[in-house]
Amino acid sequence: MFLERIILPVFCLGIKVFPWILAEEVDIREVAADKGTNVTIPCGGLLVLPASNVQWVHRGNHTHHEILTDGSLFITLIGSDDAGLYECGVENETSFLDRINLTVRTEPPPLVNVTVHASTILALILWNVAGDGGHPIIDFTAQYRSAAPVNGSLEPWRPISPNHISPNSRQVDVYHLEPNASYWFRVWATNALGPGPPVEVLATTLYSDQEAELYKHFLEGSESFDTRTWVAAVCVVMGTLVVLAAGTCAVLCREWRRPGEPDVCP
Ligand SMILES: *[C@@H]1O[C@H](CO)[C@@H](O)[C@H](O)[C@H]1NC(C)=O
Ligand SMILES: *[C@@H]1O[C@H](CO)[C@@H](O)[C@H](O)[C@H]1NC(C)=O
Ligand SMILES: *[C@@H]1O[C@H](CO)[C@@H](O)[C@H](O)[C@H]1NC(C)=O
Ligand SMILES: *[C@@H]1O[C@H](CO)[C@@H](O)[C@H](O)[C@H]1NC(C)=O
Ligand SMILES: *[C@@H]1O[C@H](CO)[C@@H](O)[C@H](O)[C@H]1NC(C)=O
Ligand SMILES: *[C@@H]1O[C@H](CO)[C@@H](O)[C@H](O)[C@H]1NC(C)=O
Ligand SMILES: *[C@@H]1O[C@H](CO)[C@@H](O)[C@H](O)[C@H]1NC(C)=O
Repeated sequence: MFLERIILPVFCLGIKVFPWILAEEVDIREVAADKGTNVTIPCGGLLVLPASNVQWVHRGNHTHHEILTDGSLFITLIGSDDAGLYECGVENETSFLDRINLTVRTEPPPLVNVTVHASTILALILWNVAGDGGHPIIDFTAQYRSAAPVNGSLEPWRPISPNHISPNSRQVDVYHLEPNASYWFRVWATNALGPGPPVEVLATTLYSDQEAELYKHFLEGSESFDTRTWVAAVCVVMGTLVVLAAGTCAVLCREWRRPGEPDVCP
């Protein structure tokens, strides 16, 4: 990285043999470093003291990092866990000589409020920025792919034009989608230290085609149609026909019996 070591200005607290200064009275220095670099933090005010018994405290605990012979703290490959308040002092003294608030610059954090508004063949991806990690955001990148697996695996991510979305932008359009299809969309920010973690959102396109709508209603109707209703209706009709036929037969028999043929009907 471009900063191999950060040499910090040393604040001379004044030549005091016994610097009985309350911790609250030592100003906190703000120091920022890029993730993955080596950082050297001098213990300010040590110029007049022997540096052999300097102690460093990180967020209230003794730090495990190396203390150099001049009393400086040496942190290799700095990470997000190394951020926070550092205090240095001399062993057995109650006061601190220097206090440093270390900020670790990182890739941008995940974007927030990522939403996708899909129509039939278009989609609009929207997002908000929760921070830049310490370096200005250079650009955004968005990609998409079908959510339907082919042969058990998802297709590779497809780019969304433009590949480098302006850092002032908070949205991008996606074209040439299929209607009534599910897609994964993902978007992330990039700064000088690299890309931040992508945020993925699942969305399904609409099918507004009128025929498709009608077809769906027809299908829904046929799905909800109960065949038992149909069977009952047929039974009722058939039963009515049987009763009518029997009645007609009885009437006809009575008609035939009158002329004197009693053997035809019971
Ligand atoms: C950081 O410190 C480690 C250990 O001293 C060293 O091996 C490495 O080369 C240093 N890296 C840089 C970028 O200075
Ligand atoms: C300080 O050290 C103690 C014991 O090792 C540990 O439980 C605690 O979480 C540490 N505190 C911080 C802020 O790291
Ligand atoms: C700090 O105090 C301890 C015990 O009270 C003592 O053993 C040690 O020598 C002292 N260190 C210094 C640098 O005075
Ligand atoms: C250290 O800096 C960070 C970021 O600037 C800030 O949020 C935090 O409150 C500071 N901590 C102290 C103890 O000053
Ligand atoms: C995320 O959305 C909520 C609700 O719309 C809003 O209050 C909040 O400010 C948004 N977050 C950012 C970082 O813009
Ligand atoms: C799925 O796998 C079969 C056999 O491995 C292959 O013939 C077919 O082309 C594959 N389909 C796709 C869309 O890759
Ligand atoms: C929409 O897609 C779903 C799932 O792939 C499918 O079941 C449904 O029949 C489709 N609808 C239309 C109208 O194509």
